[in-house]
Amino acid sequence: MRLRHLATLAITVVGAFTAPALAESPNGQQIFLHGDGAGAMPCAACHGVNAGGNTSIGAPKLAGLPEGVIKSALAHFANGEGGNASMQYIAQALSPAETDAVAGYLSSLK
Ligand code: HEC
Repeated sequence: MRLRHLATLAITVVGAFTAPALAESPNGQQIFLHGDGAGAMPCAACHGVNAGGNTSIGAPKLAGLPEGVIKSALAHFANGEGGNASMQYIAQALSPAETDAVAGYLSSLK
């Protein structure tokens, strides 16, 4: 009983923070660092907090890639063309607006 109560409380608290963010236009940095709350895991977990990549798991550097390159890679992954299962799943989970936001954020990094 107590645990269920805590779980409900946690969901309410998380909801209070994510709901307004989702209602506005998506924030690319937020998605990169924390995921989109709808299936897309935080990109930073694999690509590194600065998007510099992680060679040990084969996650390429994303910082500074042109926005169009990022968007077309994600579009291919979402269609099941190339990438790995994680990237395909993530690309499918991102909405078009979230894809634009995260691509814009990454291309702005050095
Ligand atoms: C579970 C680990 C993991 C997570 C989380 C992850 N990625 Fe990836 N990503 C990879 C790996 C591994 C590759 C390389 C896939 C390949 O080339 O086969 C990749 C490739 C990419 C590429 C292609 C880059 C290039 O130069 O070809 C883009 C763009 C990308 N990821 C964006 C993202 C975004 C945006 C997110 C968050 C919404 C994200 N990734 C989350 C592991 C991950």
